[in-house]
Amino acid sequence: MNNIDLKDAYLKFFESKGHKIIPSAPIIPENDPTCLFNTAGMQPLVPYLKGEPHPEGKRLADVQKCFRTNDLDSIGDTTHHTFFEMLGNWSLGDYFKKESIVWSFEFLTKHLNIPVERLAVTVFKGNKIVPADAESADIWKYLGINEDRIAFLGEEHNWWPNMELLGPCGPDTEIFYWRSESEIPKKFDPENENWVEIWNNVFMQYNHEEGDKFTPLKNKNVDTGLGVERVTAILEGYTDNYKSSVWRDVIEKIEEISSLSYDDEQYTKSMRIIADHIRAIVMISGDEAGIKPSNTDQGYILRRLIRRMIRYAKKLNIDIDSNWEQDLAILIINKYSKYYNELERNKNEILDTLKNEKVKFNRTLEKGLKEFEKVVNNLDGNLINKDTAFRLYDTFGFPIELTEELAEELNLKVDTEGFKQRFKEHQEKSREGAIGKFKGGLASTGEMETKYHTATHLLNAALKKVLGPHVHQKGSNITAERMRFDFSHPEKMTDEQKQKTEELVNQYIKQAIPVEKLEMKKEEALSLGAEAMFIDKYGDIVTVYKIGDVSLELCGGPHVDNTSKLGHFKIKKEESSSAGVRRIKAILE
Ligand code: ALA
Repeated sequence: MNNIDLKDAYLKFFESKGHKIIPSAPIIPENDPTCLFNTAGMQPLVPYLKGEPHPEGKRLADVQKCFRTNDLDSIGDTTHHTFFEMLGNWSLGDYFKKESIVWSFEFLTKHLNIPVERLAVTVFKGNKIVPADAESADIWKYLGINEDRIAFLGEEHNWWPNMELLGPCGPDTEIFYWRSESEIPKKFDPENENWVEIWNNVFMQYNHEEGDKFTPLKNKNVDTGLGVERVTAILEGYTDNYKSSVWRDVIEKIEEISSLSYDDEQYTKSMRIIADHIRAIVMISGDEAGIKPSNTDQGYILRRLIRRMIRYAKKLNIDIDSNWEQDLAILIINKYSKYYNELERNKNEILDTLKNEKVKFNRTLEKGLKEFEKVVNNLDGNLINKDTAFRLYDTFGFPIELTEELAEELNLKVDTEGFKQRFKEHQEKSREGAIGKFKGGLASTGEMETKYHTATHLLNAALKKVLGPHVHQKGSNITAERMRFDFSHPEKMTDEQKQKTEELVNQYIKQAIPVEKLEMKKEEALSLGAEAMFIDKYGDIVTVYKIGDVSLELCGGPHVDNTSKLGHFKIKKEESSSAGVRRIKAILE
């Protein structure tokens, strides 16, 4: 079964069990400024896991685009990827352990035809919050998993996400597969690397709050995750994920471009890195958030991926000036557009982003590598100092991680801490130079963006007036040219509603209402009825922006000091964003 069939079979199976199939959320979280990327299928569902009703009901399933940076340095081995697709099914206060385990088992053994002998599971052995999960163990035994194949492990293995992170969490049971030709041991040893985890079923019952409190959630939920890349390789009989149908065509293309063979060991790692990175690059730059390479946040990750990919392409002697990266990107876009149609929509942007960054980096790469060589030849000891690292960054565009990687290949060290210090000083200096610019939230914020921030609060307030109190912000994206606002509302707005909303916002602007920044205790803000999207993410003292009696919202700002500064507000478009969520694009003129 290839990766496409796996995804189809999974969704079909859970549909047959009463689940609604929902689309993948964007890879850049739309309503969570504290997170750069969606790292798991549950992340976009946090409000619903906490008890807010989901418009599609209590049983959901999807394929979610995920991106994890913590694996970046492991890319190049057989199993790690930055971008990956996660299959997930959820119960929002509906079914619990029994159905979840029974269905996982049924899907694996009946639909994927995995023999029971190749399976083993871990269950939670208990901690100060919940006792050992004998119930899950009993269900596994009932299904035919031998007692020897059930391991009770502690919170460091069977609690998701982990005991430190805040938010919804709980004990889990993990399913393992024996991925080796050698004889399958009778007893399950989770330390044996031939046992690979394929599915995680989390019984999400707690909200981890500040002060180390684990408060029971309103609902007992189920959250599961199954990685497409790993399971596809297993189903196709490979221990190297890159040999599977997820990657085969990409690797073949790289072989064609470089005229080298993947099976030639000296090239394998470079090809894997290029294959992994090009897919992640396409997914990030193809996301509706419009991320471009930069020196901060998601933009920096994108830049690092592109530059790292180019360096490995160079190792394969690929002619960097040729259109190799465009060919690879097009292959990925074509392959995934069926699932993520924004890739087709944003095709030109993806290709331009890639080309522009390549041209920029390629201009200095050769010189930078020569410079690096010179530095190494003249090195006294084994440490590359902060000034050299900074010069490589500033003059040759080498991300610090690239310098570190080059150094590591030669068993050298880099003064990364010193580099960071110099980097900070440099940033402060350039910030002083940029009069009127300051940073707020994720993106750097100029005058226009600031105005749009304030307009967002006014729009939120106006929509509540026109449509009703069920309206809450679900996401927001601001550039200097426009604002985009996602909010909960079950149906298309009528022309009249749109007009009324527009008029109301313009009325607030005309009234020249002062915008006040207040600081108060979180409880106080909530008791005053302040709007807040990520209440758990804030500390005890919060910043609240008050716009007369029109709006009160928890927010980091920045904002203009008076609504009169906004100009004229105009709605350009109202459309569906996802189920139960509408999107308004608007401008100030
Ligand atoms: N959220 C769980 C995971 O990512 C299912 O493993």
